[in-house]
Amino acid sequence: MHPHRIAVIVGSLRRDSFNRQLADVLVERAPDTLALHRVEIGDLPLYNQDDDDAPHAHVLRLKREIAQADGVLFVTPEYNRSIPGVLKNALDHASRPYGESSWAGTPAGIVGVSVGAIGTAAAQQHLRTILAYLDMPTLGQPEVFLKADAVFDDTGALRDDSRDFIDGWLTRYADWVARHARG
Ligand code: FNR
Repeated sequence: MHPHRIAVIVGSLRRDSFNRQLADVLVERAPDTLALHRVEIGDLPLYNQDDDDAPHAHVLRLKREIAQADGVLFVTPEYNRSIPGVLKNALDHASRPYGESSWAGTPAGIVGVSVGAIGTAAAQQHLRTILAYLDMPTLGQPEVFLKADAVFDDTGALRDDSRDFIDGWLTRYADWVARHARG
């Protein structure tokens, strides 16, 4: 059986983003049953409903990549106790035109790393509300609330004691995708 294709969406555009580092770790450590690939959202225009009839080429690319995926993995920081605007912008873009959402039915996973103590918990709760509306079955447990200095060492490498947790989560997510993948 071919591996399930997973679209990985990182909610930070920062050059040295911890969340992008975490996404790289997940890509590298994913089991053979998953093929993870990053989807770009930093080049999308700001969503404007006037453009629904003639979406930007980058929006069409995003919608195509989501439609072709068997699952979506959100790796996001928390901004002001919610998700970053750049991620909401991508969610809104691929949800339109009305009735043609690319997200519907696609199983999702959420992980996040923050410099703050609650490790993106508030952002993830907001994201869960959005994904429920978008009809995306989302893995509930284990939750992944990571603090940057606890998960990465000074060189940016994953700390040894985080490996088992990350690998265990990936296994659970792979099972979730296998159970909920479309078709
Ligand atoms: C933050 N940060 C932050 N952290 C947190 O735990 N809760 C929060 O509500 C916020 N709010 C917030 C707002 C804005 C506008 C910025 C720029 C930052 C800090 C955040 O955890 C930190 O900048 C991370 O490094 C962001 O993730 P990346 O870019 O490293 O992936």
